[in-house]
Amino acid sequence: AHPPIRTICCIGAGYVGGPTMAVIADRCPGIQVTVVDLNAERIAAWNDPDLGRLPVYEPGLDAVVGRARGRNLHFSTEVDAAIAAADMVFLSVNTPTKTKGVGAGQASDLRWIEASARQVAASARGHTIVVEKSTLPVRTAETVKAILGAAQQNRPEGDRRQAKTFAVLSNPEFLAEGTAIADLEAPDRVLIGGEDPAAIESLAGIYGTWVPQDRILRTNLWSSELSKLTANAYLAQRISSINSIAALCEATGADVREVGRAIGTDSRIGSKFLQAGPGFGGSCFQKDILNLVYLCRHYGLEEVAGYWEQVVTLNTWQQDRIARLVVQRLFGTVTGKRLAVLGFAFKADTNDTREAPAIRICQDLIEEGARLVIVDPKVSAAQIAEDLGQPSSPADGGWQTAGSPLEAASGADAILILTEWRDYARLDWGAIAAQMRRPAWLFDARAIADAAAARAAGLNVWRVGEG
Ligand code: UDX
Ligand code: UDX
Ligand code: ADP
Repeated sequence: AHPPIRTICCIGAGYVGGPTMAVIADRCPGIQVTVVDLNAERIAAWNDPDLGRLPVYEPGLDAVVGRARGRNLHFSTEVDAAIAAADMVFLSVNTPTKTKGVGAGQASDLRWIEASARQVAASARGHTIVVEKSTLPVRTAETVKAILGAAQQNRPEGDRRQAKTFAVLSNPEFLAEGTAIADLEAPDRVLIGGEDPAAIESLAGIYGTWVPQDRILRTNLWSSELSKLTANAYLAQRISSINSIAALCEATGADVREVGRAIGTDSRIGSKFLQAGPGFGGSCFQKDILNLVYLCRHYGLEEVAGYWEQVVTLNTWQQDRIARLVVQRLFGTVTGKRLAVLGFAFKADTNDTREAPAIRICQDLIEEGARLVIVDPKVSAAQIAEDLGQPSSPADGGWQTAGSPLEAASGADAILILTEWRDYARLDWGAIAAQMRRPAWLFDARAIADAAAARAAGLNVWRVGEG
């Protein structure tokens, strides 16, 4: 028997916690869901009456939040109170790669997971199911259990409060940004790892409200944690594989889109995730692979570590290769040249720039003395300044923003497309070309623009993977 869950607390109101809890609240009106965060500004943005100003941009998120907020979906900074009230606590905090100490650059920094587990240990009441939502290194649940276990025992003599007990589950999130709501509403699968069957069924019962039972997979804790890292490593590997073939296509006269179609029709390979581009970005892929690499080394599996590490090496190479190629085509120098950069987000339909390929490519070009004019429909100038590590400036080796691709193109020698925003497929190349300095270039790293129209307008065109 598993008592139904009536109250949920989610620690971390980020890209994962916010949308996931919004959908749970929307689908389960009988459960009170409170999302808490230390970041008061972020919580205020989640509570903004203007649904256009939520801190995370996801198509459809505003409607879901609009339906549930105030009814059974709440955003708060009162972490301890929300934990105390909850039957189930999701840990959805950030787990970035460590920047210093042992495992710097590879291992995950678990300080926020540890801190939130300690907060749960201190504030929980009665029986609490703790669910790991953040992507974590394998066997993190051990740490979480140890911290919670200590709280279970740390009861002073004569303390008569009801005993604290915990069950720990791993429930990794597979949503992709930009399609978060669709992915949450109709997931390929939900994965629940754990040892306590009652806790597993409590969580399965929540998802079962809208997800068919055969899509709810139950595994042990370690398989669940490892599946998340493996899924992301496989997906990233496909991108490095197709990008490696794109370079070979450019050298030989093949076209990577034709190759992709030809191999994707093999049902064993499948047609998705075969788009060549400027390399993968996002908060997960690189972090999770490096995490996997660190884990393999820890267990003495050097060849396995090296195998996966190469996926990241190739990704970085692809970004540098594109920046180098732009410089070469522009007669070996971009110093003082105006270059329009279309797209800064790591992919379309998101305002997220974490690990965006645009960051490295722009930095490389800035280093070469270019004057970048950056446009992105969802990324703010403040975010770009933070990512590039320098304020906006019109000087050589500087960057500024523009309101539209046309404005950015004015006086430019080249246009670089780095994010596949749909609008970039419909640009008016006649109007743009008329604004540019000749000879003018289009470097389309996403192969999304109408290359024939750009050529007809007099531009030289480079497309990723086109020989
Ligand atoms: C392969 C390709 O499948 C085929 O399209 C191409 O034309 C020729 O090469 P083949 O070598 O006959 O065909 O056999 P395949 O079934 O692909 O298996 C190749 C090897 O991979 C075998 O040793 C098989 O045991 C191994 N394998 C396959 C695995 O170890 N695991 C798997 O999941 C699949
Ligand atoms: C990814 C996983 O898809 C998701 O399951 C996991 O939960 C989190 O990490 P996300 O990072 O949001 O999601 O985006 P995704 O669509 O996977 O794209 C990642 C990167 O790969 C982007 O930079 C994208 O542009 C790039 N990509 C993707 C390609 O270059 N080519 C492709 O064919 C697909
Ligand atoms: P993700 O992409 O995994 O959702 P984010 O960085 O977008 O990651 O969100 C994680 C959130 O977790 C941040 O807003 C951060 O402030 C919050 N957070 C981290 N540690 C704690 C904690 N101990 N208590 C409350 N919130 C926390």
